[in-house]
Amino acid sequence: MNDKYIAEDIVYAGVDDKEIDLFESQYIVPNGVSYNSYIILDEKTAILDTVDGRKTEEWLERVQEVLGDRIPDYLVISHMEPDHSGSLEALVKRYPDICLVGNAKTFAMLSQFTSVHVEGHCVTVAEGEVLSLGSHTLQFFMAPMVHWPEVMVTYEQKERILFSADAFGKFGALDTEEDWACEARRYYFNIVGKYGGPAAALLKKAGTLDIQVICPLHGPILKENLEYYIGKYQTWTSYEPEDEGVLIAYASIHGNTAKAARRLAELLEEKGVKKVVVSDLAREDMAEVIEDAFRYDRMILAAASYDAGVFPCMESFLNHLKAKAYQNRKVGILENGSWAPSAGKVMRAALEGMKNITIVEPMVTIKSALKPEDGQKLEELAESMVQ
Ligand code: FEO
Repeated sequence: MNDKYIAEDIVYAGVDDKEIDLFESQYIVPNGVSYNSYIILDEKTAILDTVDGRKTEEWLERVQEVLGDRIPDYLVISHMEPDHSGSLEALVKRYPDICLVGNAKTFAMLSQFTSVHVEGHCVTVAEGEVLSLGSHTLQFFMAPMVHWPEVMVTYEQKERILFSADAFGKFGALDTEEDWACEARRYYFNIVGKYGGPAAALLKKAGTLDIQVICPLHGPILKENLEYYIGKYQTWTSYEPEDEGVLIAYASIHGNTAKAARRLAELLEEKGVKKVVVSDLAREDMAEVIEDAFRYDRMILAAASYDAGVFPCMESFLNHLKAKAYQNRKVGILENGSWAPSAGKVMRAALEGMKNITIVEPMVTIKSALKPEDGQKLEELAESMVQ
């Protein structure tokens, strides 16, 4: 068996994409991304998911290489998002007799995205139903909103493999050597994070299965130490902090708010906070800062006032946090303003609209630039953050 074999008769058939500029037209992927696809060779053959339309030709070659002269019997559709269904029409064109396996929501969506005619060529499955391929039996579990409503996962009973759709996915092509958690966390909170409840429900279902291998639709196949990955997902889906630490996210126009943010970081470190991350919202990857907001138990927002509101990159950050259901954290606020400071009011109102956020007092206001007389207020805010 070569490294493309996950088990005897179960083969990885996905492709890497290192040329994409932005995944989902918004996330930078410095090490690319993989679109995972799998093939099970049995009395019947099944392909589990296609790949993004950017890689159709390469993927079809790979499918042909694995299948040889065999004609695939089934295509299991876990998820209709185009990074997985983008080669579906091409596959059906090449293998017109293939039978599509999905749930009722899959087929409703399939007709929106494609002009494939499924009549007489589809099997509609429901929660817990099975499909026998011979010695391999596939069992389907619905995973709505992880990360679209039609998502389902497939449990292969013989080898005890969970094909987990977007869950347990990660940015980065498969030949990238990097820590799993960092890019899996950035992927989870930005892409699936809004749906922590549904993701937790999926984990609960998965907990009833004996799982030896997890095959996600992006990133590496997880074969060992599964409790580590599942443990991370249990934390992430619960919206509880993963680590103790303070993220200071700042939005600075001319550098003065940035200086105040860095001074706060020094004060926190002097007070014994072991992990302080300072992020420039105007320049750093927003998705990475979102990831850190969820990772740590505390956060300080520091922003300049702008147009009687808050500097736009902070507004954008707050919108992202709200959309991703940021909650259960302790947050401090620092505003800067030269004539009528307004940033604090906007930040406070946004935080008050989120669930279970404790706003740490005092909110600090600086006028234009940090001065020696601001020291006491910063000290008080830092002290409140460590209480
Ligand atoms: Fe990887 Fe939600 O698609």
